[in-house]
Amino acid sequence: MSNEGNALVVVANRLPVDFTVDDAGEISWKRSPGGLVSALEPVMQQADGAWVGWNGSPDLYADPFEADGMTLVPVTLNADEIEQYYEGFSNDTLWPLYHDVIAPPAFHRQWWDAYRRVNRRFAEAAAVQVATGGTVWVHDYQLQLVPSMLRELRPDVRIGFFDHIPFPPYEIFAQLPWRRQVIEGLLGADLIGFQRNGDAANFLRTVRRLTRHSTRGQVIAFEDKTGRAVREVRASAFPISIDSQGFDALARREDVVARAEQIREELGKPDIIMLGVDRLDYTKGIRHRIKAYGELLHDGRLGVEETTLVQVASPSRENVGAYQELRDQVETAVGRINGDYGELGHAAIHYLHHSYPPEEMAALYRASDVVLVTSLRDGMNLVAKEYIAARSDDRGALVLSEFTGAADELNGALLVNPHDIDELKDVIERAARLTPEEQRKRMRRLRRKVMTDDVAKWSRTFLETLEAMPVVPVAPELA
Ligand code: G6P
Repeated sequence: MSNEGNALVVVANRLPVDFTVDDAGEISWKRSPGGLVSALEPVMQQADGAWVGWNGSPDLYADPFEADGMTLVPVTLNADEIEQYYEGFSNDTLWPLYHDVIAPPAFHRQWWDAYRRVNRRFAEAAAVQVATGGTVWVHDYQLQLVPSMLRELRPDVRIGFFDHIPFPPYEIFAQLPWRRQVIEGLLGADLIGFQRNGDAANFLRTVRRLTRHSTRGQVIAFEDKTGRAVREVRASAFPISIDSQGFDALARREDVVARAEQIREELGKPDIIMLGVDRLDYTKGIRHRIKAYGELLHDGRLGVEETTLVQVASPSRENVGAYQELRDQVETAVGRINGDYGELGHAAIHYLHHSYPPEEMAALYRASDVVLVTSLRDGMNLVAKEYIAARSDDRGALVLSEFTGAADELNGALLVNPHDIDELKDVIERAARLTPEEQRKRMRRLRRKVMTDDVAKWSRTFLETLEAMPVVPVAPELA
């Protein structure tokens, strides 16, 4: 960091590195791969950037340090804060509330207090890092109070916020006991980005219902007592993407292509390999997918010698009850289907409760004939985009839930309502039977979109829109 501070500061719940502590208490870290960091790295290096985030473990204190041309600023959380702010309010209140209450959200006042306390800590860390007149970009639902807290501390900076998950309709959001505080927290930003137009529209409607501000199109006006506009906030859609070129190049690598071939062989060279890749999360519709697949086997429309389903379910939020329940349900269903329909050497479902490095994922995508994305609600879904970027051979088929942000963009996917199990069965079977010519036609259309609209374009568009926001002098009582 220069003496003047950082021109661009990113604030996200997690730092883009994994920390480990050895037996002697020595802390080391290594880069965790991710689209967001690869998109922001060039901008961060140029802008003398800093990234403020949690290091993923309890009570781990570390000073800011340099990594790949960025300053990383660790925020420390203790065990109670992890339980109440991260597992509690973020992932057992906001996450289910923002995903159509698929699981019931829990409302606890202590969790809210911890959420406020931790958001303030992130805001203070960002306020220390950012240069005069600099830019701060805050990410996701864990940190919705940071924009207004930061504006109070540093009225001189531009503040952007991006919501990576859906923003719910007012009628659902209204359940939140602290609904006004959350909206006011977000309105501290100059620009609020969402995945879909529908999310931005839900937010704007919520602002009209809960505050006195008027909206004109996507702009929210802050007025003084005489009705003069003193500040503007914009709420628009900026659909996120992946490092498309990087993923395409990875999937073309000789070792990855060879590994894809090896995977097909290890699975017994079935005609059709189906693949699901998800964090083990109840929003992903994993149970619906498995049910539909099991029924297709039961009906004899698919057979285990001809096809197999590989389901990668990476461990996630394992201390939250709803995730523990889901794991039991998924594993019971997989066990039953394998028991009922599997044969020696022909498992119906290969279920993998692990996470894998990007090389292995790229090989799995290349080895698969059909990828199943059946989310019940999903902000975007980047698995869909990774699959497309990996298929430079123009092969494969994508079954995509209409309840994903990706469905708004990916013309060429086979869209489905995952709640309708009969429709889901029909679409899975149709995807399995697409001719190579039909696959090519659809995949080419999908690749034109994904290879053009990558994550670098996403971050550039967001930051340029933020820089173009009018800077209006703010009267102290309105700041
Ligand atoms: C979603 C959220 C991210 C989050 C990720 C992994 O994609 O939008 O903010 O980081 O899930 O979840 P975790 O709780 O492990 O950070």
